[in-house]
Formats: sequence, C-alpha cells, structure tokens
Amino acid sequence: EDLFCYPPNNLCLLEKLMGEELRIKQLFGANLGVAAPVWEAALHLCRYFEDQSVELRGRRVIELGAGTGVVGILAARLGAEMTITDLPLALPQLRANVSANVPPAGWPSAPPAVLPLCWGEDHLAFPSDWDLVLCADIVYLPETYPLLVETLAHLCKNGAVVYLSSKMRREHRTQSFYKEHLQSRFDVELVLRDDKQNNNIYRASKRAEE
Ligand SMILES: C[S@@+](CC[C@H](N)C(=O)[O-])C[C@H]1O[C@@H](n2cnc3c(N)ncnc32)[C@H](O)[C@@H]1O
Repeated sequence: EDLFCYPPNNLCLLEKLMGEELRIKQLFGANLGVAAPVWEAALHLCRYFEDQSVELRGRRVIELGAGTGVVGILAARLGAEMTITDLPLALPQLRANVSANVPPAGWPSAPPAVLPLCWGEDHLAFPSDWDLVLCADIVYLPETYPLLVETLAHLCKNGAVVYLSSKMRREHRTQSFYKEHLQSRFDVELVLRDDKQNNNIYRASKRAEE
C-alpha cells in the first residue's frame, strides 16, 4: 500500500488524498500505542469521501479517536469547520500534525481545534450541533462500545450523519458494535465493504427519541 508507512519513517507523506499533500508525523516511541500510526481505515474513509464527493466545505465536523489526525486534517483542508479529538496522550501528536499541515493560503475555514474527548467521560463538554461525526478504526475495545454509542448520541443533532470506517476484527467483536450497540439508537447502513482489507464503512444517523 503506497500511501501507508510504518517505522522507521516517522513522517508519512500522503500526496494522493483528494489532491492534498499531507505531512503526517507518526510519533512511534512516544508510548502512544495505537494512536501513533495512520490506520488503513482512515485512508479508506478519506478515499470514500473523494469517491462519493462528500461535501465537507462549511460543515461543522468532529472526529473521535483521531490518532494522527489524517482524516480531520484532510477534512479541514477541504473546508470543514473541524474539531479533532482523542485521549490527552495523543494531543501533542495531533497538534504537531495540524501545525505541519497549514495550507499555503491558510485554513479555508477556522484552524482545526484539537481537544481531549474520552468517550463516555468528556462528551457532555461538547455541544450537540455537529453536521458530521467521523470515526476511523475506533471500534476495537468492547468495553467502550456502550460509551461510544452514548457519546455519538450526545453529539448528533437532528439530521447529523456519522461515518465510521472499521477493520472488522473478530477478536474485537467489531460486528457486534454495529449490529447490537449502534443499532439500538441509530439507523445504520453499510455503504462500502473492502473484502480484501476486511474494512467496512458505515453511515449512521440517530433515530428520533421515542
Ligand atoms: C486504532 S487507533 C485509530 C486512529 C486513527 N483514527 C486512524 O484511523 O488512524 C484508535 C484511536 O482511538 C483512541 N481511543 C482509544 N480509546 C479511547 C477512548 N476511550 N476515548 C477516546 N479515544 C480513544 C486512541 O487513542 C487511538 O488514537
């Protein structure tokens, strides 16, 4: 996979994402664990936006568990009003990547905000007025599945759309998140399946409360 780089290169140049040349640092060695690399699911989501011409310009968008920030940074470069979130330990990497990717003419909307958001803990500090919520490879810890649904339900205003890109790992019961947890409060649609990489992209919207 030409876009995907691992150590020893800590700098990932992503030149082919929607015509944008991103410089993404992956801070391996900083004890970031799974937050350090760019995961395939993130690249799948970026390509889906490109293929489907998903309109990001002028939309209020929040990303959860952003890791390196590649998805949110790309969305901000394409005009989204972007808030990029992760656990506190990942924020220095996210801030470094946001700073390294300021477009030559400046951010088309505001510069992306980088903020801590631990699912099920910090979500109430955020408003419920997003147009889009983005999630790439964040469905892998079964104990967080109820917290993730609670967080998504809080963030979604009426009509908000959530895009989730997931490597469908059996050992993490990823499928059960979509089929049981998310479907309890959201209408969930599988919009793209990559068999070779076992990656699914879902679009979800919150059902009206009964
Ligand atoms: C597999 S990585 C995916 C990173 C990035 N979205 C990507 O696709 O390249 C999972 C991310 O979820 C974050 N994460 C894990 N548990 C979390 C929690 N309880 N609250 C918020 N973020 C969490 C990790 O810090 C990490 O950045």
